[in-house]
Amino acid sequence: MLVSATEMLKKAVEGHYAVGQFNINNLEWTKAILATAQELNSPVILGVSEGAGKYMTGFKTVSAMVKAMIEEMNITVPVALHLDHGTYDGCYKCIKAGFSSIMFDGSHYAIEENIEKTKELVKVAHAMGLSIEAEVGSIGGEEDGVIGMGECADPNECKMIADLGVDFLAAGIGNIHGKYPANWKGLSFETLAAVKEKVGDLPLVLHGGTGIPADMIKKAIDLGVAKINVNTECQLSFADATRKYVEAGKDLEGKGFDPRKLLAPGAEAIKATVKEKMELFGSVGKA
Ligand code: G3H
Ligand code: ZN
Repeated sequence: MLVSATEMLKKAVEGHYAVGQFNINNLEWTKAILATAQELNSPVILGVSEGAGKYMTGFKTVSAMVKAMIEEMNITVPVALHLDHGTYDGCYKCIKAGFSSIMFDGSHYAIEENIEKTKELVKVAHAMGLSIEAEVGSIGGEEDGVIGMGECADPNECKMIADLGVDFLAAGIGNIHGKYPANWKGLSFETLAAVKEKVGDLPLVLHGGTGIPADMIKKAIDLGVAKINVNTECQLSFADATRKYVEAGKDLEGKGFDPRKLLAPGAEAIKATVKEKMELFGSVGKA
């Protein structure tokens, strides 16, 4: 069922686990993630970047597709449809399109403007029954045109944004979008602990979930992270499985070129990645 992410993340904080946000790009992605969540009885968040929304022809298409799939696949676990790294305008578009959750990424604004815009969007989102995520500090690297410098969040600024009533908060703690470079210094648990100290039980969000070592994930969950975003890792496993299929010449055998066959190994690979992450995050059986 489609729900806001508020309750599932409160439960995650209480139960000391995290819910995965897996970004979607098309029907295959969405179907694979929903099927895995249902099979593992896990809550799940479907993330949609503005770029991916555009690729799928718009947020209305995404919303209609997700709602129809939830119904026709008999998905009974809690599912949130969430705008990822949303702009101010993008947030309004998703509210109108029927999303159940939004992220307003005001991290590139001065803190005063981030506060002002977040405050307004919290009011609107809550009035419409949506949950809302905000960001302080920034996530390094690039995701779908969103570029961050990777500076760690200021815990006092986190408190200011938390006090606006956001439902969960992304704080930059040295995390990076995409593959981590070999010289990556790791997550700043010092920053995370200081943020937690300021915001109490507010669920914290860890972006850039691709390739973070398991022990760091576990420690982050211990320190209040209740939502972990994964995008690149599903893309890599999809690409890898598809490449193997083509390199083995399977597309040339019989009707192997039929997209329902050609895309199947990639979809299975996404399922395997999502399963691995749900197990690591501890959300299996928590629906
Ligand atoms: O917002 C989405 C994510 O933070 C995903 O990051 O592509 O590094 O897994 P990732
Ligand atoms: Zn992100």
